[in-house]
Amino acid sequence: MLVSAKEMLDKAKAGHYGVGQFNINNLEWTKAILLTAQEMNSPAILGVSAGAGKYMCGFKTVAAMVKAMDADLGITVPIALHLDHGTYEASKECVAAGFTSIMFDGSSYDIAENIEKTKELVKLAHDNGMSIEAEVGAIGGEEDGVVGMGECADPDECKQIADLGIDMLAAGIGNIHGVYPENWAGLQFDVLEKIQEKTGTMPLVLHGGTGIPDEQVKRAITLGVSKINVNTECQLVFTAATREYIEAGKDKVGKGFDPRKVLAPGVQAIQDKVKEKILLFGSDGKA
Ligand code: 13P
Repeated sequence: MLVSAKEMLDKAKAGHYGVGQFNINNLEWTKAILLTAQEMNSPAILGVSAGAGKYMCGFKTVAAMVKAMDADLGITVPIALHLDHGTYEASKECVAAGFTSIMFDGSSYDIAENIEKTKELVKLAHDNGMSIEAEVGAIGGEEDGVVGMGECADPDECKQIADLGIDMLAAGIGNIHGVYPENWAGLQFDVLEKIQEKTGTMPLVLHGGTGIPDEQVKRAITLGVSKINVNTECQLVFTAATREYIEAGKDKVGKGFDPRKVLAPGVQAIQDKVKEKILLFGSDGKA
């Protein structure tokens, strides 16, 4: 059932658990996540980055595929179709395309411009029955080979953005996208505590879910994180399982070359990973 992310995240915040945002790349990815959420009786958020959206032919194609798949598979758990790190333009495009949730990432603007643009998009999203995520403090990660460490958000700026009526807030607390470097300092819980104090009931979002030790994820949830984004980890397990299939020569046995067979181990690996994360975040049985 496609819905805005608001209700599932407000419930998660009140119930002290997290909802996973799992990014999608294609039909197999989407099917794997939908079926696992249904099996676990868990809400879930399908994240779509601009790059993945373009790869899948555009946001309209993505929205049409997800809506039809949700119906064809008879999915009854709450599922949000969410733009990940959207620009101002992409946010508007996804509203028109029929997403149920958007993230406007205005973290590269100064705070005044971030506030101005976020405010405008809050109205647009809410007028269309959609939820909206905003960001304060850059989330680091690899960009053109340079790994940024992630800038911690200013708790006062978080409050200013939260007060605009957004539904969830991504605030940098030392988290980065992709695999964490050896010398990563870990999540900055003192910053998270201050953000939580200032923003109260606002569901907080932890980006860069790949590779954060389970104990840190659990602690972040107790300190107000209600949405955890996972992308790279599903890509890693999908690719490893596919490599294993090919390296074992299984594509050369019988009709092992059939794409449905070639992709099956990778899909299973995504399902296992999503299941593991749903259990870690505590959203199983919470649909
Ligand atoms: P990872 O790729 O590190 O899991 O991060 C995902 C994410 O935060 C998407 O916005």
